[in-house]
Amino acid sequence: MNASLWCACLAVLSVMVTGETVVNDCQLVGEVEKKTSAVEKDLLARLAPLKHKRFETKVLEGSDTYTYTFVVCGRVTNTSNDGLVQTKAGSKDIAVIGRINETHILNGTDWILLTYKGGDKYDTHCGSEPRKAMVMISCNKNTLAENFMIITEERNKSTECFYLFEMDSSVACPTEVPHLSVGSVLLIVFAVLVAVYIIGGFLYQRFGVGAKGMEQFPNISFWQEFGNLVADGCDLVCRSRPRPRSSDTAYRGVGDDQLGEEPEERDDHLLPM
Ligand SMILES: *[C@@H]1O[C@H](CO)[C@@H](O)[C@H](O)[C@H]1NC(C)=O
Ligand SMILES: *[C@@H]1O[C@H](CO)[C@@H](O)[C@H](O)[C@H]1NC(C)=O
Repeated sequence: MNASLWCACLAVLSVMVTGETVVNDCQLVGEVEKKTSAVEKDLLARLAPLKHKRFETKVLEGSDTYTYTFVVCGRVTNTSNDGLVQTKAGSKDIAVIGRINETHILNGTDWILLTYKGGDKYDTHCGSEPRKAMVMISCNKNTLAENFMIITEERNKSTECFYLFEMDSSVACPTEVPHLSVGSVLLIVFAVLVAVYIIGGFLYQRFGVGAKGMEQFPNISFWQEFGNLVADGCDLVCRSRPRPRSSDTAYRGVGDDQLGEEPEERDDHLLPM
């Protein structure tokens, strides 16, 4: 027998000995009978960006600190499909709260609830049923995943107890179909037309007519005239005080001339005031 066959045999044997089926991902109810829910499968696909990410939260209860470790569709330690685990500081006690081979998942408009069942059994509480972890993932557009926290541990019921956690993530946000309003479509069309007009006109003026400098701008004389008309119109409509008298303009003209000739001495002109 060659080496690879040996390896395969050993793998099969070890699975038979430990009695553990190898699970590499969240497993939904009905996977064996091929009767899984299509919605659950869809939702698991949405969690894909978080897959195998690990989160931790600490909580103080009395004098004990508990740490909860959560892995999205992966194992915390490398055994027994443990997807959410509780450890107690300064102690070797480990309790598996939920396992990824018993995953359930459901959603609403802006949240996804991921449940791992099949955790370690309670000693006395809750009719000694297996523990169960529920992680409420709420929509937060600004983060892929953060704020993993425990909300509560319910273990005072006779059955159906649970550990409830929460987390923020963008994967829980409703998928938006981007749509443009009529106004923005019109604006874009207008901007494109203006760009085509300017670029096309520029190319025509430059290469068709052979214009230089400002003359390359399409219909330059029209637009200059148009600009003057607009300025006149605005002058008429917007001005609240009469136009500055022509003597003011003349005075300013003199000043401008001087500035033009001796720009360095501008300060000297102002200083006496
Ligand atoms: C899940 O995995 C655990 C540990 O490997 C095993 O004991 C349990 O039977 C499995 N549950 C299911 C539903 O396969
Ligand atoms: C739940 O998730 C599914 C799959 O992604 C989606 O099609 C559906 O619209 C979601 N339900 C709600 C209420 O948003």
